[in-house]
Amino acid sequence: MSNLAIFGGEKTIEKEDEEVFKREVSEEIEKKVLEVLREWKMSDIDITKEFEREYAKWYGVRYALGHNNGTAAIHSSLFGLKIGKGDEIICPSITYWASALPALSLGASVVFADIHPETLCINPDDIENHITERTKAIIVVHYAGYPAEMDRIIEIAKKHNLKILEDCSHSHGSLYKGKLTGTFGDVSAFSLMSGKGFAIGEAGIMLTDDREIYERAIIFAHYERHSEITFDYLKKGTGIPWGGYKYRMHQLSSAVGVVKIKYFKEEMEEIDKAMNYFCDLLEEIPGIKPHRPPKNSGSTKGAWYHPVAFLEKEKLEGLSLTRFCEAMRAEGISVLPGCNKPLHLHPLFHTIDVYNDGKPTNLRNIKGNIVQSKGSLPVSESIGKRVFTIPLFRKFKPSIIEKYASGFEKVLKNYKELLKGDKGDPEDIGKWGLTLGI
Ligand SMILES: Cc1ncc(COP(=O)(O)O)c(C=O)c1O
Repeated sequence: MSNLAIFGGEKTIEKEDEEVFKREVSEEIEKKVLEVLREWKMSDIDITKEFEREYAKWYGVRYALGHNNGTAAIHSSLFGLKIGKGDEIICPSITYWASALPALSLGASVVFADIHPETLCINPDDIENHITERTKAIIVVHYAGYPAEMDRIIEIAKKHNLKILEDCSHSHGSLYKGKLTGTFGDVSAFSLMSGKGFAIGEAGIMLTDDREIYERAIIFAHYERHSEITFDYLKKGTGIPWGGYKYRMHQLSSAVGVVKIKYFKEEMEEIDKAMNYFCDLLEEIPGIKPHRPPKNSGSTKGAWYHPVAFLEKEKLEGLSLTRFCEAMRAEGISVLPGCNKPLHLHPLFHTIDVYNDGKPTNLRNIKGNIVQSKGSLPVSESIGKRVFTIPLFRKFKPSIIEKYASGFEKVLKNYKELLKGDKGDPEDIGKWGLTLGI
């Protein structure tokens, strides 16, 4: 008999070393935030503009527009792309709801594509299956920081004359073949909320090189910046936001941002070093496969938001993810089964009539049948039973990282003992929103 903690053995991690996981708030950040607060500039836009300039510089793009959250940045981006009544957008089914939902209030519909079982991003092989004459844009999510296959996605978009919106809420600093994710599409949107890789509070940002997208986002929800508008058709209606929304970024977040961005590269390098070291150790253990791009591909996971790994059940006689995670938690290592739930199965996309149209909102402006039932996107529907979150090390401390990896090894080496009493995985696994555990 092994000494697995789930059966009363010694725990691998008696007390978590908080230092390796903790986020730091420097004195410089505190000072800047207090300055904005004391000058009562919380709703001004001067610090936000400074932050936008720095963010745009980092990404090498022309325009950056701060928002009060990532959802708002996606909403403005979709309006910027002229998504409207009767249009369809294609979005991966495994993502946070905000990648898709803002399209509904614009009168558009969402059609979901399956994800790739290894990248967990939209599968280029499935995109064309969902393109119709109404399709206007592809939403790309670099899921859990893993860069999506942009070469193929761009090729498909060009072939069908579609726009690309990159949702980079998980991929701050991630590179695809050496180039930053968020610089491939027509527009990109980032959540900067406190759980994210680049975290500055409830905030978001939109990036684009296209002046018209930028100005449309301004006319939509940033009335305080209407003086920047140059397009005649937009100029006619300045003064109030066309969308009826106010998406201005909170300047306490911008204050955190202007300081954080100065040190982010270093912070990210440390995380990347620590996480690659950890994943190298995990890769040696039969039964587990970390989710990360191949080495020497030029692709990276940036700040490693929400790192996950796959449980290779076929090598473990079908051990359930739930049972494995229970055993890991008993060892003192926090791992959670599942990922975002498949959006295409949510009732909102089947039956719910949000705006009193007399028909389901996702179908209200189109004639075709785009309802996607169970069985339609097999990878998205089954992936939750294979992936689990792994600890996110922010500091490169080899001895601590090794200790955690040894906990995985201990559990997986003794997996046979866990098969007894394994009740399997529940049908409903994962969460609609991961950040606050909802
Ligand atoms: C993929 C993705 N898109 C969009 C969002 C929305 O961002 P926010 O929470 O800042 O509105 C989130 C996160 O929460 C996300 O994970």
